[in-house]
Amino acid sequence: MSCFSCFVSRSKDASRVEIDTGSRSAASSGSVGGGKCTGATESERRKKEEAKGKSTSNGKNSTAAASFGFRELAAATRGFNEVNLIGEGGFGRVYKGRLSTGQVVAVKQLSHDGHQGFQEFVMEVLMLSLLHHSNLVRLIGYCTDGDQRLLVYEYMPMGCLEDHLFDPPQDKEPLSWSTRMKIAVGAARGLEYLHCRADPPVIYRDLKSANILLDNEFNPKLSDFGLAKLGPVGDNTHVSTRVMGTYGYCAPEYAMSGKLTLKSDIYSFGVVLLELITGRRAIDSSRRPGEQNLISWARPCFSDRRKFIQLVDPLLQGNFPLRCLHQAIAITAMCLQEQPKVRPLIGDIVVALEYLASQSTPEVQRQNPPSQYSEIHRN
Ligand SMILES: Nc1ncnc2c1ncn2[C@@H]1O[C@H](COP(=O)(O)OP(=O)(O)OP(=O)(O)O)[C@@H](O)[C@H]1O
Ligand SMILES: [Mg+2]
Repeated sequence: MSCFSCFVSRSKDASRVEIDTGSRSAASSGSVGGGKCTGATESERRKKEEAKGKSTSNGKNSTAAASFGFRELAAATRGFNEVNLIGEGGFGRVYKGRLSTGQVVAVKQLSHDGHQGFQEFVMEVLMLSLLHHSNLVRLIGYCTDGDQRLLVYEYMPMGCLEDHLFDPPQDKEPLSWSTRMKIAVGAARGLEYLHCRADPPVIYRDLKSANILLDNEFNPKLSDFGLAKLGPVGDNTHVSTRVMGTYGYCAPEYAMSGKLTLKSDIYSFGVVLLELITGRRAIDSSRRPGEQNLISWARPCFSDRRKFIQLVDPLLQGNFPLRCLHQAIAITAMCLQEQPKVRPLIGDIVVALEYLASQSTPEVQRQNPPSQYSEIHRN
């Protein structure tokens, strides 16, 4: 087996934590509106997607997750060799591996001292066995030998979004505007599938740039469903839960009350959109005071179009269509509204972003002279 390249993810400010104990009471009605996905164009798009076989909510077109033995996965990763380590999160370490069939995979090993645990492992297997879409990562299998818990995923060669967006190495081209829009559309489609097509709907709860994985063409796939919750059913508008998620991405009403709705995911999606536009992390303690929390820093600009330009990632060097920027910021601002009820539904976000992506071709002309950016620094 050839040697795999070594990549270990940096430590991140926006690490996953239990944010607060919050309310644990039973779900009740009368709170914020859980999203029902409507919109004239949505059913049309759904039909088209189904015709293309893009998703298989009933699992008919998918292969079930396989059960692996520990030895098999140890062999695939050459004994969980450090050279195959591709990342590490709260669950444990992630290794690149090659199965005996030749298939290249990512193997996630639950660490025994990990703060996330067995419950998330079960949820991940359950969710990804039921949910299938081209913008969700595919679970190939799992291992439950003894006290070992491992998950085997399709390997995503470009890693996660945050590795490309924040402080990319100087020799690497920064993500172009059109690629950013492509990623936004794909992530929105994945979320739309969870909110509108899964039955009952699924609240993802952990949308963040570290959980958006990328293939060779920068097609995004959502990953990590260990925190996902089945959404409210019947007359209920929310589910009550222990507040879990990642600091910086969590909707304020969810962090404060534990009341979880589909609109909590819309807020997190808004944070990711803002990261795509600005090239800044949701939380970045290395920045000066006032700029460490991305939302607080950006929010004052949302109400003044003349300030939009101050939000743009300087690495784009003016290479974006100005009208698209305005519209992208408008969508972001809507997603980040304090009141969950007034945040848009994911179906409408998909339609809006698809339009923006169609207007954001790689051939787009330089719209703004670089001089406008000379005084805007990333720190
Ligand atoms: N299927 C995959 N293909 C390629 N790389 C992956 C895959 N899954 C995870 N990775 C890499 O491993 C890293 C760690 O992923 P992991 O999901 O364990 O942690 P996280 O999402 O960064 O944080 P946390 O789990 O604590 O929320 C990712 O950032 C990514 O670079
Ligand atoms: Mg992850």
